[in-house]
Amino acid sequence: MNKNREVALIEYDTNLNGISKIYEKINFEYAPLNLYANQNRKDFNLQKEMNRWFKGRGIPSWRKDLERLLKSLNVKFSDELLDKAYGLSLSDQYWLNPIGKELKWKDINFFTNNFEYKAFLDASILSKSRDKISLMTPNNTTDGMIQKAWIIEDKKRILIKGTFYNANQEPLNEKLTSIICDYLGFDYCNYEVDTLENKLVSKCEDFIDENTEYVTAYDILQTEKKNNDVSTYEHYINILEKNGIKNARENVENMLLIDFLVMNIDRHLGNFGIIRNVETLKWEKIAPIFDTGEAMNCDKELFFIDFNDGKGRFFGNDNKLFSEYLKYIKNINRFDISSKDEIINKWSKILKDYKIYTGMQDERIDKLTIGLKHRFDILEKYMNTNQ
Ligand SMILES: Nc1ncnc2c1ncn2[C@@H]1O[C@H](COP(=O)(O)OP(=O)(O)OP(=O)(O)O)[C@@H](O)[C@H]1O
Ligand SMILES: [Mg+2]
Repeated sequence: MNKNREVALIEYDTNLNGISKIYEKINFEYAPLNLYANQNRKDFNLQKEMNRWFKGRGIPSWRKDLERLLKSLNVKFSDELLDKAYGLSLSDQYWLNPIGKELKWKDINFFTNNFEYKAFLDASILSKSRDKISLMTPNNTTDGMIQKAWIIEDKKRILIKGTFYNANQEPLNEKLTSIICDYLGFDYCNYEVDTLENKLVSKCEDFIDENTEYVTAYDILQTEKKNNDVSTYEHYINILEKNGIKNARENVENMLLIDFLVMNIDRHLGNFGIIRNVETLKWEKIAPIFDTGEAMNCDKELFFIDFNDGKGRFFGNDNKLFSEYLKYIKNINRFDISSKDEIINKWSKILKDYKIYTGMQDERIDKLTIGLKHRFDILEKYMNTNQ
């Protein structure tokens, strides 16, 4: 199902945790974009790809501390969770409606219906063992390596994310990106820093609602064959423009500028994309900038911190120098970075305020503060020489 529409009649094998047969396609234009776009290609095995897509909705095997979480949930593999809670998610509207049950989306979706999350939150973020954890949650279908959990606060669906590297910097980096985006007027998913029993976390609101879905750049790039003389970057922008996304180029450039400034090393093809309306199938807009936690040298020990340059992920190229990013921006002088000193001061304050939770040494705090200033200086110099 995609919200209220039937998409396909399938058989789901609960032993194999996968789709074992596709009986019929129904309203297939409402299927996940990649499956719909490629269904008739000769070399495209729909059942295989549908399984790949479905498994991609689950908790990945590389999730931090996965074994402990699965033990708490009383399952062996995260794939066993895929069909629990009907496969519902808070990032799209796809789900499984068992024949004979004839459930209604309005009665079971997690956008408008409450769900239990406390025990899952404890098990996921705090790595606490819990006896009874409800599996009727959207937490069976979260992607990504960082420990995370959806919770409800003031009726809002909020994603809580923990830390990964030793420096415990990720939530602070997310906040820094939010601050920069705010000053520069970019569309972004706002992250706040918080603590859970002394553990540092970030919090952000769901940028998907009951009428929309998040479609990844990966899926978007699969929808059309790229000519050899076009770069993946231009191909991506072409597809967005063709599908009516306004200011596609500017928004993609904004993301590049952010990744350049904070040296984000994790902009893989699942970490950006668009928002599509699930009722009209209209491509509404570029998804707000999100998941910028792996940045600011957070993976480096003090001695190796280097803000001169580094390698990021760029449209499938995992070894792109940040110094190359700016060349993709058509009019670099459209950005107003006159607030850079305020941003740097805020960054310095955040690092100091959360020092007791990150356990960060003053030397690292200094390096990270000077580091951000250095990034802005490089950008400013580039702007001045490219007037
Ligand atoms: N605010 C949000 N609203 C809706 N969906 C979200 C939101 N934040 C994250 N997601 C979904 O959850 C997935 C995982 O979240 P996120 O990318 O932040 O986690 P991560 O563990 O840092 O991932 P990665 O493996 O890329 O490091 C995203 O790819 C996206 O599909
Ligand atoms: Mg991610």
